[in-house]
Amino acid sequence: MIKIAPSILSADFAALGADIARVEAAGADQLHVDVMDGRFVPNITIGPPSWRRSASARAWPLDVHLMIVEPERYIAEFVAAGADMVTVHLEACPHLARTLAQIRELGAKAGVALNPSTPASALEYVLDELDLVLVMSVNPGFGGQSFIPSSHRKIREVKTLLGSRPVDVSVDGGVKADVARSLAEDGANVLVAGSAIFGAADPGAALRALRAAATAP
Ligand code: DX5
Ligand code: ZN
Repeated sequence: MIKIAPSILSADFAALGADIARVEAAGADQLHVDVMDGRFVPNITIGPPSWRRSASARAWPLDVHLMIVEPERYIAEFVAAGADMVTVHLEACPHLARTLAQIRELGAKAGVALNPSTPASALEYVLDELDLVLVMSVNPGFGGQSFIPSSHRKIREVKTLLGSRPVDVSVDGGVKADVARSLAEDGANVLVAGSAIFGAADPGAALRALRAAATAP
């Protein structure tokens, strides 16, 4: 089953509660929160205090994508603020297995994100330590960028590496209805979408259209 994860990066921060309620009502499976530090990526977003209250009010999963250096310093704080899944960038983690163990020990699902230039094979020695692989299909830092086509091949390579392991494969960046079906065929089961959903006049309708495109016969 395909899960749709709206990214709040493209939401209207002056009306964040209303935007989140719209996609929740439209059947979003999880909420994707992009955390940027101005160092790992050239942009800065929000930290745990900004969304702690909002998170605690929700029953549906919070998927926190950490685009920050030294993520191990902040993982506990994000889990305490309501993160159900914490995804760190492989490129930011010299001791990746230790960082993934830290996430799991805190009771969250452990995810690894790969930048577009990082090969799938970099995951080879942590395949049993993770719950989620996030394939970045743009260079992280900004919403509204164009999908990088080589991501299709990487998703297939990740799926091959994972074999029968029950690991989510998520794709993030430039995901719109036109690529949704092929991403599902590649083996992605979580589609993260920011501008395709929150950039639309009706985010709920856009979410439903994305799901329909991904699951079209
Ligand atoms: C990019 C973020 C994405 C971003 C996706 O660095 O990780 O989650 O919000 O936005 P769109 O869907 O507009 O590419
Ligand atoms: Zn993201």
